[in-house]
Amino acid sequence: MNVHHHTYDAVIVGAGGAGLRAAIETAGKCRTAVLTKLYPTRSHTGAAQGGMCAALANVEEDSWEWHAFDTVKGSDYLGDQPAIEIMCREAVDAVIELEHYGLPFNRTPEGKIDQRRFGGHTRNHGEAPVRRACYAADRTGHMILQTLYQQCVARDVNFFNEYQVLDVAFADGRVAGVIAYEMASGDLHVFNTKAVLFASGGFGKMFKVSSNAHSLTGDGPGLLYRRGIPMQDMEFFQFHPTGIYKLGILLSEAARGEGGILRNNSNERFMERYAPTVKDLAPRDMVSRAMLTEIREGRGIGPNKDYVHLDLTHLPPEQIDEKLPDITEFVRTYMGIEPKTAQIPIQPTAHYAMGGIPTNVNGEVIVDELNTVMAGLYAAGECACVSVHGANRLGTNSLLDIVVFGRRGGAAMAEFVRKAAMPDLPKGVEEETRGLIERMKVGSGGENVADIRTVLQEEMMDKASVFRTDESLSSMRQTLTELKGRYEKVSIQDKGEKYNYDLTEAIELGFLIDLADTLVEGALARTESRGAHFRDDHPTRDDANWMKHTLAYRTESGGVRLAHKPVVGGKYQPMERKY
Ligand code: FUM
Repeated sequence: MNVHHHTYDAVIVGAGGAGLRAAIETAGKCRTAVLTKLYPTRSHTGAAQGGMCAALANVEEDSWEWHAFDTVKGSDYLGDQPAIEIMCREAVDAVIELEHYGLPFNRTPEGKIDQRRFGGHTRNHGEAPVRRACYAADRTGHMILQTLYQQCVARDVNFFNEYQVLDVAFADGRVAGVIAYEMASGDLHVFNTKAVLFASGGFGKMFKVSSNAHSLTGDGPGLLYRRGIPMQDMEFFQFHPTGIYKLGILLSEAARGEGGILRNNSNERFMERYAPTVKDLAPRDMVSRAMLTEIREGRGIGPNKDYVHLDLTHLPPEQIDEKLPDITEFVRTYMGIEPKTAQIPIQPTAHYAMGGIPTNVNGEVIVDELNTVMAGLYAAGECACVSVHGANRLGTNSLLDIVVFGRRGGAAMAEFVRKAAMPDLPKGVEEETRGLIERMKVGSGGENVADIRTVLQEEMMDKASVFRTDESLSSMRQTLTELKGRYEKVSIQDKGEKYNYDLTEAIELGFLIDLADTLVEGALARTESRGAHFRDDHPTRDDANWMKHTLAYRTESGGVRLAHKPVVGGKYQPMERKY
């Protein structure tokens, strides 16, 4: 295996919205390399559909404080309020900046950026839904990705496409480099650098039904976890209510923002019972639970009564064509259904990790309960946990998060790099990665990656998704122990060097198993229900004991050790979460 050496002031891992926005910030200030396992424009930001939130007040009265209140309440009071304030305040400038970069937002008749409703976003502290999401039809993420990529190209950012980062190197208590695997050649590349920002996305592929692309395997968080960085709040994983039945493909919440309605087997608009004020536009955790409650209580649809309907048939056809063109085409393509005339079978789909690599508001990675920073290490976007989403993210706050905290992380990194010297990279830092790859290639244990991944995804779906109990989670813990044993015996068929997806999928499966472990341990320990973490055996929120974040550390023996740190409060006191 050839090994190549590079030196850059800063390295960004991942070229979705957070990575690209960070690169725009470092461009011209320091020599930056962006390493991405995909081509940048194939990053998962491109799959985000319905909008990016900012209280522009273009179509209705609004304020960033109302946005902050909704985000705190939506997070079920687990979000850190100072971070949420920063995000909601900076949202307005972030949208205007994208507009100036050329992003083709939908417009009002008088030419302002148009805004639409989304779940949990309200006027005046919960009075009624408000139009706060800025959007480009139902392809807002795609437009953000293209726009930011163009800005990077204009700034001559150095991209290393199809370079999968598999390890990070530390020296003298700071970051010193990363080790990447080049898909096209099978070579290893060692990057010596002063600073690294991870923006490598989520890990929804640990669940069977997911809106996440195949690439969302948690490589960044996974490799950092193995190097001693704790993972924060991993028990909180968001299920988006409207995934295409069985396939999980996302049908944007914008469908309900535009007036779509959820219906059960008697055609009842059941969300009126669960959230009388905002109805179908309640936050995602509540809507997903309501849908599955309908199904559990026998009001599901179909031969197995295991889905409900999204109804768009009452919307004017021209509104569907103009505002929801992509998702309605998905329904035609994947289901053979015409959404203008027939209701759409849907089920909750694993969508977004609220937890991840702990950071402060400048993207600096935190390594313990005292908020100690690891010099030179940064993270932003879905792989990070700032924490602005707490126990449940509001729709459209993710595209906002990547732009705001991508910019802040990039700026902080550029400033760090200006003052820091290039660290010495210990000799042979690539040896562990080489060993990992060689072990995979020579392995003859007879275990198959796809088989193990199928068990992981099916069992996580059954035992650790929307509803959880001590029994289901303990059983999942047992499954994970077995899967770890089987993973040790994995062998792959392709022993080649070029585009060896057999190899990379095997490595990715290891990250997914490790991260599933942190999710299950965090969920077992948290004996309450909050946001997306719902325990049938502890169905209420317990503020007296659980207004705290979970930190999951990997132990020497490969197990999980949990620690906690307090939620950072602010002016909003925890209240009952009614909508
Ligand atoms: O429903 C959606 O369009 C997804 C948006 C989001 O996850 O923020």
